[in-house]
Amino acid sequence: MSTPLISIRDLHVSFHTQDGVVKAVDGVSFDVMPGETLGIVGESGSGKSVTANAIMRLNFGTQVDVSGEIIMNGKNLLEVDDDELRTLRGRQMAMVFQDPLTALNPFYTVGNQIAEAYLIHHPKATKSEVREIVLNAMVKVGIPEPTKRMDSYPHEFSGGMRQRIVIAIALVNNPQLLIADEPTTALDVTVQAQILELIGTLQEEYGSAVMLITHDLGVIAETADRVMVMYAGHAVELANVDELFETPTHPYTVGLLGSVHSLDDSSRGALQTISGTPPSLINLPTGCAFHPRCRFELGENSLCRTEAPQLHAVGKSRSACHLPESQLLQIGAKGGV
Ligand SMILES: Nc1ncnc2c1ncn2[C@@H]1O[C@H](COP(=O)(O)OP(=O)(O)O)[C@@H](O)[C@H]1O
Ligand SMILES: [Mg+2]
Repeated sequence: MSTPLISIRDLHVSFHTQDGVVKAVDGVSFDVMPGETLGIVGESGSGKSVTANAIMRLNFGTQVDVSGEIIMNGKNLLEVDDDELRTLRGRQMAMVFQDPLTALNPFYTVGNQIAEAYLIHHPKATKSEVREIVLNAMVKVGIPEPTKRMDSYPHEFSGGMRQRIVIAIALVNNPQLLIADEPTTALDVTVQAQILELIGTLQEEYGSAVMLITHDLGVIAETADRVMVMYAGHAVELANVDELFETPTHPYTVGLLGSVHSLDDSSRGALQTISGTPPSLINLPTGCAFHPRCRFELGENSLCRTEAPQLHAVGKSRSACHLPESQLLQIGAKGGV
């Protein structure tokens, strides 16, 4: 086993709102290995972006409690000061967001924005060196006619081309970890495929690890090596991508796969969806957060209702479910796709 690139341990992020304390991330632990693609999947509001933003140490404002550890290169990112953070962002970890328009500054040319990102970590670079870097970065992300296009403004690009620029900015300092938060959600399907392919190609070239956040299981199947499934601020399953699709080991994952599968396979009969709605993060159910929606929960006074399950080995995966391993594997074998 190689050493993880980054280790997240017992991460909690709670927002203090007028309605109460929102437990957006409630004790999540996982590793990202060097060079791998870890997919993070879950319904909207399950804490995917908050997890990513905590790793990037983006500003959550003052009404927030963050605890746990995010260890990268021997340092807890939650403890480094702002100066050090600036030296880490871009080089250690960089991020690509869902909406490239908000990630780019409308008043600067795209060439300037790539240059600026490079200059943060190479303040002594000469003009011609930076120009070379910018052109090279644009070529790598597939922008045609880069010498001309480097002087264009973001609004002069299509959505897909803008996302390519954002990727160029993220990769210009060769980060060890690229976090992509729904990077293709705002794009149409063909462009989506191109952007995912681009991220994959560049990842191989740069050797970066990628944390790819999506609510789209198709994207996970195409790109991820391992997958973490999130539900209501918890990691409920962690598995290799093949295992996850073959034998999901958490009832929530089974439900997720079932609802996808039934959409594209009408022969399978009744449409399977997960009944109920995600819980309020202000008032989480006791025990397992998924129990009110779970078809298999063990009932009154059972562990499902009284004790929060932790991730543990189930088959070849890790699952946070109280059901016996044999039953989970059976459910998974039937429910998997
Ligand atoms: N700044 C904030 N203040 C209060 N609640 C927030 C804040 N940011 C996120 N949340 C809440 O945290 C939960 C998780 O959000 P998020 O991580 O963005 O979900 P997603 O999995 O869709 O990316 C949501 O319920 C969201 O409303
Ligand atoms: Mg999100």
